[in-house]
Amino acid sequence: MPLNLPERRPLIAPSLLSADFSQLQREVQAVESAGADLLHLDVMDGLFVPNLTFGPPVISAIRKHTSLPFDVHLMIVQPERYLQEFAKAGADLICVHAEATPHLHSAVTTIKKLGKLAGVSLNPHTPLEVLDYLLEELDFVLIMSVNPGFGGQKFIPQVLRKIEGLKERIVKRGLSLLIEVDGGINEETAPLVISAGADILVAGTAVFGRSDYASAISALRSPRQV
Ligand code: DX5
Ligand code: ZN
Repeated sequence: MPLNLPERRPLIAPSLLSADFSQLQREVQAVESAGADLLHLDVMDGLFVPNLTFGPPVISAIRKHTSLPFDVHLMIVQPERYLQEFAKAGADLICVHAEATPHLHSAVTTIKKLGKLAGVSLNPHTPLEVLDYLLEELDFVLIMSVNPGFGGQKFIPQVLRKIEGLKERIVKRGLSLLIEVDGGINEETAPLVISAGADILVAGTAVFGRSDYASAISALRSPRQV
């Protein structure tokens, strides 16, 4: 059975990419006690994106140190090759890039068959139309607001129109899938994406780059009150 996410919005998903990789257990437990809702895990293959990170062994090693849901963002070509391994390693949400496979529907179906929440991610230049025949199947869509591959990049403001367009489609079709936004999210950009319709905010630098994780997370959750 796929997990139930907390009802509150927005959900905050710190991205482990900006954590201290020599202290993963400590970092994961620190964001959990600081109020994170999910842990965002960026898997990169050096091919789909020009960077390399980690894979299933690291994910299963940290799985035993936290009860946070694991939100696995696969930036790898032909992600269908590894879906089962990521599910087994402890992923709760799995998203694949529309640009990374010619078999998007099949990848999404496999994720759901594995009992996980299924998402598709779109690079900044990929139009929403690629999801027109798939939207009903999805639990979430991850809108990239930077070019994937690295933390600490600047938010691309044109993506706000895309978030709004996706929100409109969801409302029009009476769907309940969630909108996740990833890249350049901080106290300034969080209110913009929230009012455009974002449900889940991914933040690497704006959480792990701060000394106080709890105040960083609450600043993203309710940006205007801080
Ligand atoms: C980028 C990753 C992001 C990254 C975000 O390819 O998908 O999840 O960690 O980092 P910030 O929040 O620093 O832009
Ligand atoms: Zn990501």
